[in-house]
Amino acid sequence: MKTIKIEGWQSVEDLEMQLGPAAQMLREGSLVAFPTETVYGLGANALIPEAVLAVYQSKGRPSDNPMILHVSTVDDIRDITSQWTELAAKLAEAFMPGPFTLILKKGEAVSSAVSGGLETVAVRIPNHPIARTLIRLAGVPVAAPSANRSGRPSPTRAEHVRADFGNGIACLVDGGATRFGLESTVLDVSDEDAPQILRPGSITYEMIAEFLEKNWSFESSTWRETLKGEAGIAEQDKITDQRFVARSPGMKYRHYAPDAKLYIIEGDLKTAREKILTEQPGAKVFFFVSQEAAEELSLSSAVEKKIFGSRHNPDLAAHDLYAALRDFDAAGADVIVAEALPQSQVGSAYMNRLMKAADVLVQSNQVTELKRSD
Ligand code: TXA
Ligand code: MG
Repeated sequence: MKTIKIEGWQSVEDLEMQLGPAAQMLREGSLVAFPTETVYGLGANALIPEAVLAVYQSKGRPSDNPMILHVSTVDDIRDITSQWTELAAKLAEAFMPGPFTLILKKGEAVSSAVSGGLETVAVRIPNHPIARTLIRLAGVPVAAPSANRSGRPSPTRAEHVRADFGNGIACLVDGGATRFGLESTVLDVSDEDAPQILRPGSITYEMIAEFLEKNWSFESSTWRETLKGEAGIAEQDKITDQRFVARSPGMKYRHYAPDAKLYIIEGDLKTAREKILTEQPGAKVFFFVSQEAAEELSLSSAVEKKIFGSRHNPDLAAHDLYAALRDFDAAGADVIVAEALPQSQVGSAYMNRLMKAADVLVQSNQVTELKRSD
């Protein structure tokens, strides 16, 4: 595998020169991993079906799980969708480029290999300068799922991509750690009257709702509930609720999971910890918690842990989650204990990923096994 390490650039031309070989490989059909502002992506030329198939094979990804097409301008989106509505245009103006993906009806140029057989397509314009320049230079839409093996935590550093793929891909562009740490918000706008968040992210429900409140008038008054999507139902109900599975195929699979057994703790943290330690005597336990929780649990310096900062700033937890899960696995954890956060702002995205990755939810008065199809 060729690695291109980008440590800085003097000018746009300088960055273009450094990315030139990667862009050429991408255009010609090889797989190229690159950083975006969310997580690293594993890119393929979306116009070459063999290249798209190679992404599914390398990741071990089920073929019914469609990919996001990455482009560098809004005009490029119009070329790959058959639906460019006023609502889509307004949302694109507000949130693109950025950690934001729109689902629209697909154009004819999009092969069913990319869309997993659906009539819609996911499109995103990353705002990471490396990603955007690479895509512009490649000159084609780039199908790019997160650059992890299917089921594993998404990569937020180049070394995570290397750990999952080794020499299995042609090129890795190393641009350092990613800014947000969780994948983009996915918003389905294929029905203009009922936009729905299929995957929460750093462009939050609150931001989208506020924007729509000011800039769009809906026929129905229930649009906010619909917009909220899966985040609108309680965690416990989600385990049995199949309503949201159909609309975004990717969300039905167990995801983002470390090798260690992952417990989420919520409520009275000391009681929750006791329950886990009783169930797992002698286990090597690692904690992913806020500063406040570390104090509540009196975690000593000898305890293996990653403290992400204040629980009132979920952006920090989101930024560190995947790297912590990977680091703990590498350090031989048997058990990982991660703190639940309130489900507002980026806390919704953090909890969404944690619930999909975890084995057990431990609340003060209740223990829930989170059984999902793999
Ligand atoms: O931040 C991100 O979005 C990253 C970076 C690399 O851009 N990419 C990413 O891709 O997370 P991936 O493939 O790991 O996740 C794409 C999600 C999946 O849950 C998939 O099911 C959903 O988007 N998706 C893609 N096309 C869809 C469609 N037409 N309808 C509904 N959901 C779709
Ligand atoms: Mg993924």
